[in-house]
Amino acid sequence: MAEEKISRRKFSKRLLGTAISISFLETLFVGCSSEKKIAIAKSNNVIEPKATEVLNHWAVELNEICSDLGTNKISQKVWQEQINKLYSQIELNELLKFIDFEKLIKNFEYPDLGVNTRKVKFPKLKDLPEKTVFYKKIFGMKKGRAIIPHGHSNMASAHFVLKGDFALRHYEKIKQENDFLIINPTINKSISAGDFSNISDEKDNVHWFVAKSENAFTFDVIMLDLNGKKYDIHNIDINEAEKISGGNIRAKIIDVQTGLKKYGKDHHERMQKTL
Ligand SMILES: [Fe+2]
Repeated sequence: MAEEKISRRKFSKRLLGTAISISFLETLFVGCSSEKKIAIAKSNNVIEPKATEVLNHWAVELNEICSDLGTNKISQKVWQEQINKLYSQIELNELLKFIDFEKLIKNFEYPDLGVNTRKVKFPKLKDLPEKTVFYKKIFGMKKGRAIIPHGHSNMASAHFVLKGDFALRHYEKIKQENDFLIINPTINKSISAGDFSNISDEKDNVHWFVAKSENAFTFDVIMLDLNGKKYDIHNIDINEAEKISGGNIRAKIIDVQTGLKKYGKDHHERMQKTL
């Protein structure tokens, strides 16, 4: 179905240059998928006209994919596959212009622990609701700071690196047992501007970013309260986790302040030694 959907919408070569972001749900925009031709907005004065067409299509397509997820038209795994396709078509520089990245990071305050965020606004586009189905934000941090290790419930999110380098780890969430998450390692790599990742209840649920460059930013697209259930975030004490059967790991769920104190800063070396 994912393949069919993408080809149906016929991403042309010109479209091979799209982008993504994160945010909290503004409105659950239902049923916006359609066969109709996407009109090109003339009013987007943020970027060059050539890039406008590409990114307008991308933004509309992104919203449609997220709508399909919100209405359970597609599974979370299929959403992740479709998002990967969209993100692989993005030109980093065009995305930076599209979200007006330079303006977003003007006077950006980098916290000593963890990260800071800014809401992203897309240009007004025909066929794109003013409030997108997804939340969209940039996350920024100084070197050594982290998006601390955490899992999610009833959530899916996609992350595009806008600037800098990160060490990235992901784990599959096998199940929750009282105050513990049972997880299994899936991804352990470095990513840089132009790279991307995503999570859902169904795949690579737990993630952990540590900034390796002087500063680093991601653009996040976030879908909350999937399946009609309230979303939740589970910060975990990964360094105190224990190995159990089947290569799985049992990690205690901790509150955000404890997580930040332990993992919010200068944790890159220890990350590499983590299970
Ligand atoms: Fe997350």
